[in-house]
Amino acid sequence: MRRVTLTQYLIEQQRQYGKVSPELRLLIEVIARACKAISHTVSKGPLAGIGDAVGLDNVQGEAQKKLDVIANEVLVEANEWGGQLAAMVSEEMAEPYQIPNRYPKGEFLLLYDPLDGSSNLDVNISVGTIFSVLRCPTNCSDFDYKAFLQPGARQVAAGFAVYGSATILVLTVGNGVVGFTLDREMGSFVLTDERIVIPDDTQEFAINASNARNWHPPVKRYIDECLAGKSGPRDKDFNMRWVASMVADVYRILCRGGVFLYPKDAKHKEGRLRLMYEANPMAFIVEQAGGAATDGRQRILDLQPTALHQRVGVVLGSKNEVERVTRYHAEG
Ligand code: F6P
Repeated sequence: MRRVTLTQYLIEQQRQYGKVSPELRLLIEVIARACKAISHTVSKGPLAGIGDAVGLDNVQGEAQKKLDVIANEVLVEANEWGGQLAAMVSEEMAEPYQIPNRYPKGEFLLLYDPLDGSSNLDVNISVGTIFSVLRCPTNCSDFDYKAFLQPGARQVAAGFAVYGSATILVLTVGNGVVGFTLDREMGSFVLTDERIVIPDDTQEFAINASNARNWHPPVKRYIDECLAGKSGPRDKDFNMRWVASMVADVYRILCRGGVFLYPKDAKHKEGRLRLMYEANPMAFIVEQAGGAATDGRQRILDLQPTALHQRVGVVLGSKNEVERVTRYHAEG
């Protein structure tokens, strides 16, 4: 069997479809290399001090874990010198990181969550890295943070790594979605899923049910109908899963379908997840895999961001279920 590595895949995308410029290819390869380093550290578990707190809060007011900080540094150090980027935004940095003057600047902007799901670290459950790539809209050397505030539809690439029993890298450059598995002996990401497609229908939903008392009526209606199963209006039984690592929940949906909800509710008035480096890249991936992603009312990729770390409600996954939840919101 011919083994296709990440590099080969990207070069083929460049040759056949003109989708990936050499600069974008290098950028994606560097991100993937950083993910390998993070994967290596995560796999050491308690030996790497996993789960230790550093005693600080990140911009979201969540306690930073030692590994959040390490993963952020790995991504900054890997990406700052190559000449592909103008600036970076990370969940772990309040302000955008500008490329130091000693390095050349490039045309791309990188946004990432270095360690998604990190509250799962100390219990040995999958975590991951999410990233999104935008192009500088104007002159990159005269950088302004507003350059980041572009709707997700303008992403040129997005992906995420899941550090689970295997390390998987999911990627889109706007030409479908592919999955790579890390071959630890060879140190390379090998293409193991050349076309990820989310089925339109599903009987599996993912939501943190402990928020039920705060849900708005359309979400409550949708979940109640799922729970009613065969004896309810849906006339079919549903299963429920919630890993509490978005990377793991979305990867499951990419593999076998499902719908993921972290909606706005009475407690999370703006939503819980971050638009720029969680919802946008996941929405791009899910749409490229044939699924759908809305904030309950609007397509996530059409939202005009107003702040780097803004939150958003998220409903994504199998198309027919996402459309149903969105319709329930429209019906009030
Ligand atoms: O942003 C982070 C995140 O950990 C996601 O990965 C996950 O889907 C969600 O938060 C889990 O939220 P909760 O702690 O409410 O289950």
